[in-house]
Amino acid sequence: MLQKFNPKNADILVYVQDGLYPRNEAKVSVFDSVVQGGDAVWEGVRIYKGSVFMLDRHLNRLLESAHAMAFENIPSKDEIANKLFATLNANQMYDDVHVRLTLTRGEKITSGMDPRLNSKGLNLIILPEWKPLVYDNTTGIKVITSSIRRNSPSMIDSKIHHNNLINNILAKLQANFANVDAALMLDNYGFAAELNGSNVFIVKDNVLITPFADACLHGITRGFVLELAKKTSIPHKEKNLSLTEIYNADEAFATGTWGELTPIKEIDGRAIMNKTGSNILSKINAAFDSNKSDYLTEIPKSVSL
Ligand SMILES: Cc1ncc(COP(=O)(O)O)c(C=O)c1O
Repeated sequence: MLQKFNPKNADILVYVQDGLYPRNEAKVSVFDSVVQGGDAVWEGVRIYKGSVFMLDRHLNRLLESAHAMAFENIPSKDEIANKLFATLNANQMYDDVHVRLTLTRGEKITSGMDPRLNSKGLNLIILPEWKPLVYDNTTGIKVITSSIRRNSPSMIDSKIHHNNLINNILAKLQANFANVDAALMLDNYGFAAELNGSNVFIVKDNVLITPFADACLHGITRGFVLELAKKTSIPHKEKNLSLTEIYNADEAFATGTWGELTPIKEIDGRAIMNKTGSNILSKINAAFDSNKSDYLTEIPKSVSL
């Protein structure tokens, strides 16, 4: 489903570097590292009914990504959280909102790859948008397998949630040309890694299965689904999944902050056929809804910049 411009987002205020700017004035320098080399890390978080979902886990992953990239003078979790709260308060955005948090290595003194050219400090960008879930989670999505392999730790470690997204964009282009919603990316060995922007699960004979988090992002929704499976006694495991195993799954679905849990109805022209009549996705969806409140951080309305 192609997202459309939402006129409600025309007047949003975006935090960039040192303050809030109206959408059209919210800009980074041409010398910023994210322009020069995709040298930045990011998180997508969702706001539900006045609270941020999984804030602590997202901030932990952001800071771990920044540390792995050897960023210097990384802001604290509290500092980022307060700027996020202030941005949401300034926009009066409390529900149906997605926020893209980006931390770049900042401006360079002259163009070039060398991180030693960055002497101006990191650049934090907080972009909140009105954005309902991006897929129709009732009808589900169609997927093709991409010929573009997902980075393994021997190339770029997926444990870094970085802005160098060309790997996944090339896969998404293939999905677009094939007129489907997303691309399944394989790892170096030909096992499934993840979709171009979300993690993948299957159900086979009532067991919930997802690939090891080796060549995929260690998605926060993915982790939560595994925790929910444990909590609700759904048999589950991480394992290498070949395409044939996925084609013959009883259920398949994608997970991510963008779209929560999205059924996959077709892969490479093969319909996902539920031969056992299992309903594990609907059980996980119910558990997701009933446990969500334990992971919400209320936005303090008093925080401003
Ligand atoms: C490549 C990729 N995979 C998976 C995900 C889902 O991760 P999460 O559940 O943390 O949103 C994302 C989200 O940014 C992503 O970019």
